[in-house]
Amino acid sequence: MITWNQLIWEIYPYLMLVIFLIGHIYRFNTNQSMWRKKAQNLLEKKDIRWEIKLFHFGILVIFLGHVVGLLFPITILRGIGFSDKVYHSFAIYFGGFFGIVTFIAIALLVIRRFMIRQFRVNSSISQFMVGILLFLIIGTGIYATVYSSNTSTFDYRKIIGPWVRLLITFRPNSELMVHAPLIYQIHVLLSFALVGISPFTGLIHGWSMPIEYLHKRKLMKKR
Ligand code: HEM
Repeated sequence: MITWNQLIWEIYPYLMLVIFLIGHIYRFNTNQSMWRKKAQNLLEKKDIRWEIKLFHFGILVIFLGHVVGLLFPITILRGIGFSDKVYHSFAIYFGGFFGIVTFIAIALLVIRRFMIRQFRVNSSISQFMVGILLFLIIGTGIYATVYSSNTSTFDYRKIIGPWVRLLITFRPNSELMVHAPLIYQIHVLLSFALVGISPFTGLIHGWSMPIEYLHKRKLMKKR
């Protein structure tokens, strides 16, 4: 008999990842020309607003922070000279700073979409959904950082890090996430929801942009 915890922390993440994979393959096969055209347009656009640039820069730094904090075991980080104190100060001040920068950028983008009529009428439901979801994920992430800076009883590197590593090596363990504080749980569940809806939203062009960029560079080299 599958328990609620297993459903939420073992089955749901894989379900979202499978939807992500199949959804992208489906969209690539059925609508490749539109997908590539949009990615090309984005790459050629010169007047991209500063909030969008700021958001992408912030997300990139946060992504790298998540890779270091969640994929590298504490012993490895200690081994290369990152004591727990150094790591946590870095995560709180550096991660927190970029978290806030990204939060301000997404807040401005969401407010613009809701408040300015011209943007509102030209926006799709999926654009509203992605904006709100990102707003909530980044907001809960910052709250989690504040939470971890105020308490010494919970170290996400001992609970969430191992859970992520077991998940990606196909040995899911729901017992770990059950012990995480609610704010972290909400952050992770919302993040997987974003993964699941990604192929059916504008995020699809984000994933295809690096491919399109490399393709363009290859063509330029050939000339
Ligand atoms: C399975 C996916 C994810 C996991 C397991 C995860 C885990 C975490 C954890 C444990 C923290 C707290 C860090 C601390 O206390 O210092 C955090 C913070 C944060 N997360 Fe996530 N996260 C995930 C996905 C995402 C996504 C998709 C985004 C953005 C779109 C995001 C944005 C943030 C931000 C802005 C912070 C606060 C700043 C920082 O510490 O970098 N996270 N996340």
